[in-house]
Amino acid sequence: MSDSLTIRRPDDWHVHLRDGEMLTGVAVYTARQFARAIVMPNLSPPVTNLPAAQAYRKRIMAALPKRIDFTPLMTCYLTDGADSADLARGFEEGVFTAAKLYPAHATTNSAQGVTDVEKIFPALRRMEQIGMVLCVHGEVTDPDIDIFDREAVFIDRVLDPLTREFPQLKIVLEHITTEQAVEFVLSAPDTVAATVTPHHLMIDRNAMFDGGIRPHAYCLPVAKRERHKQAVRQAAVSGSPKFFLGTDSAPHARGEKESACGCAGIFNAPHALECYAEVFEEEGALDRLESFASEHGPRFYGLPLNEGTVTLRRGQTKVRKQIAAGEERVVPFRAGESLGWVVE
Ligand code: DOR
Ligand code: ZN
Repeated sequence: MSDSLTIRRPDDWHVHLRDGEMLTGVAVYTARQFARAIVMPNLSPPVTNLPAAQAYRKRIMAALPKRIDFTPLMTCYLTDGADSADLARGFEEGVFTAAKLYPAHATTNSAQGVTDVEKIFPALRRMEQIGMVLCVHGEVTDPDIDIFDREAVFIDRVLDPLTREFPQLKIVLEHITTEQAVEFVLSAPDTVAATVTPHHLMIDRNAMFDGGIRPHAYCLPVAKRERHKQAVRQAAVSGSPKFFLGTDSAPHARGEKESACGCAGIFNAPHALECYAEVFEEEGALDRLESFASEHGPRFYGLPLNEGTVTLRRGQTKVRKQIAAGEERVVPFRAGESLGWVVE
């Protein structure tokens, strides 16, 4: 096995870059590893319209070193009152790449999300017509549904019917965590794909309770049983163009995680590529890392592949215990551990 691996520059098809000091602290980690990233709109207040997205894109670029080659791809946060004309204009002007469906109260800053998917049918119809991608946080919020079942129930109750109602709409089921999600995506038409995070490839639900409560392993959708992790790993390394890289890197200040009611989110941006490489190697599929990281995403979104390459070399990367973001500290995924790859 060779000691280095050179692949076309990858993209991150799902990331939270935040705002203010947190943005300034974390954006560079994404921009160092990825050429482009789909930036989630769940700020407070959320990015629900074209001027807000333009202003946010400017703040992202201002937070990065001048010469870094990185393009943020903006998303529009869908609310019950989503404005189809604004969405279409934003898409045509090249500001919005996608729109994001958060079921109301499903996760961080989703209170203004969608209460009933039928409310956004006019927006979805327009998106279907113009070829704009819908990114989906796929969990029901029904408190009667066990938290470990919320993704599978969402697929049955919401997503499967949605794909029938809008057969041409391009849909990405974000951060998949279950064998049901894998099966659904595989059996759905080519208009349906999924992103896969490093953490859902590497941890199962036991990681949250390893010798005590582990807030830094908590995210949404929550990690599931080992069996589900295995199904997601097999999907990611399978070579199917329906699965591609999306880190869901979601930084929160250390105190917001280590709290009586800790926030959901895992900050994996600093070493996402090294983590994916580790998983692909364990699965004997290093030769498929490039298509997962750099080809399937742009092809699904209808965007050009990146020029240029990135090289991963065998060696030791020590993950820092915490990272500064202004006055705050953020604990990265696998803090304090050693990884077996170095990104050059
Ligand atoms: O763990 C998560 N964190 N899942 C989400 O869906 C949102 C994200 C965040 O913004 O913190
Ligand atoms: Zn996310």
